[in-house]
Order: sequence, then structure tokens, then C-alpha cells
Amino acid sequence: MLTPSLRLPKTPGHLHRQLLIWTKCAQKSKGLWNSVQRNSWQRNGLRISPVEDFSIFTGFSCLQHEDADRDLDDFIRHDASRHHADRIAVTYLLEDMSFPGFPLAFATLQNDSVVVTGEDDLPEVRASYSYSAYPAVKIGRFGVHVDYQGKRIGTFFLTAIKSLMLHENRTGCRFITVDARRDKKNRVDVTRFYERNGFSLLPCRAKTSNYIPMYFDLLSHVQLGDV
Ligand SMILES: CC(C)(COP(=O)(O)OP(=O)(O)OC[C@H]1O[C@@H](n2cnc3c(N)ncnc32)[C@H](O)[C@@H]1OP(=O)(O)O)[C@@H](O)C(=O)NCCC(=O)NCCS
Repeated sequence: MLTPSLRLPKTPGHLHRQLLIWTKCAQKSKGLWNSVQRNSWQRNGLRISPVEDFSIFTGFSCLQHEDADRDLDDFIRHDASRHHADRIAVTYLLEDMSFPGFPLAFATLQNDSVVVTGEDDLPEVRASYSYSAYPAVKIGRFGVHVDYQGKRIGTFFLTAIKSLMLHENRTGCRFITVDARRDKKNRVDVTRFYERNGFSLLPCRAKTSNYIPMYFDLLSHVQLGDV
């Protein structure tokens, strides 16, 4: 039995009026149904949240030597805010809560889907579901401040992204994908970093000369109890 306050509206007209009120409410107050907390994550004095002011990246660099690919620094300084505004990608900031506004690292996330091409692709999910594509989120760009690399910050950030995708996600998302940089000429091979963090090669996606497609199965994160 429904309690009186939860009783359904008696007429379609009543329901229509109620929906109009809810819709106006949501339009007026952006924050009403979008909680900032839902997209944030904090632990041990570190916080991850969507970037609001991109000017904090003006002096940021994640590149170690001059001949390194400048694309990452250029992206975060000049292009990330446009991607954010145009809903192409959302950039997350990692900061020490004692030094708010100083970027330790950033990660840019966007929706993705993994299209399978062969029988052997994604065996962990194809045993139960025979779809031609599976839902994923892509780490489009990822960089740790050059002065803080090698201190497990990248690993911490990746773990947090896995948790963000597992908790209260509004849509199905089974995999995290990334194109890991492998540039033999400049002796860069970031695939090792992702492998250390549970990622595998993604053979069904074509690799380009300096980027190797990789993926992580979020279900394995749950099974490992690592959240
Ligand atoms: C790659 C990057 C994000 C890693 O973050 P980090 O905080 O420096 O890495 P961590 O300290 O968490 O390292 C974890 C493991 O990955 C390995 N690793 C880290 N950076 C690596 C790199 N550039 N190449 C190969 N392995 C790397 C570490 O040796 C470590 O291995 P271990 O467990 O055997 O000790 C960071 O170094 C960075 O921003 N690099 C420049 C930009 C870049 O290449 N971005 C990725 C583009 S795909």
C-alpha cells in the first residue's frame, strides 16, 4: 500500500503539471541533480575533481626532455578547456588538498566503445555476451607533473579513475581504454606503466606508429576488491 504522500497523481493533467515543475526546477538550478561530490574522489589528503579553472595549468609540464612529444603540454595548456566546454572530454585534476590549485597531475576522460573484430577479442566478456561492441571510457590524455613523476602518483590516479567509473556510474561501462605512447626513437614506452596497473594490449584496435591501444577490465577491479 502506498502512503498518502507517495500516492500517484490521479489524473494525467496533474502528472503533466508536476513534470513541468520538476523540469523548470532542474533548468534553473544546474547543481540540483549534478552533485560535484559524485565526480570527486579523495583519499590521504589528495583530491581528484573535474577542472573548473584551466589557467592553473599555465606553467604545468609533464615532459622530461626537449625532444619529447610536446602534444601533452600543449593540450592541457591550450586545448583542454575547449574540449571540456564542447563536451568532447572532461579533464580531471589531482591536487594535494594542502596546496589547492597546484596540479600534480591531470587525466582527460571521454566515452568510448570497443568494437570486436575477431573470435579471440575480449574473451572475458564475450563468453557471456555476444555484442559487436562493448562500453568503455577512454583516457584521452594523462600526465603527472614532471617534478613528481616516479612517486606512484600516476598509479594512485589510475586507481581513483577505476573507482570513479565503478561507483554510481549512470551508464554501463565495462572497460577503460588508452593509447599508450611507445616511441622507440625517443626511448619512451609507457605501455610498461599501464601493464603494471593491470592493462593489457587491445589487438582488435589498430595501433598507430607511436601509440599502442590497451584496455583494463573494470570487473577485474571489483573482483580484486581494489576499490
Ligand atoms: C607515465 C606517467 C603518467 C606515470 O606516472 P608516475 O607517477 O610517474 O608513475 P608511477 O610512479 O605510478 O609508476 C608505476 C610503475 O610504472 C612504471 N613507469 C612509470 N612511468 C613510466 C614510463 N614513462 N615508462 C615506462 N614505465 C613507467 C614505473 O617504473 C613503475 O614501475 P614499478 O612498479 O616496477 O616501480 C608519468 O610518468 C607521466 O606523466 N609521463 C609523461 C607523460 C606521459 O607519458 N603520459 C602518458 C601518455 S599515454
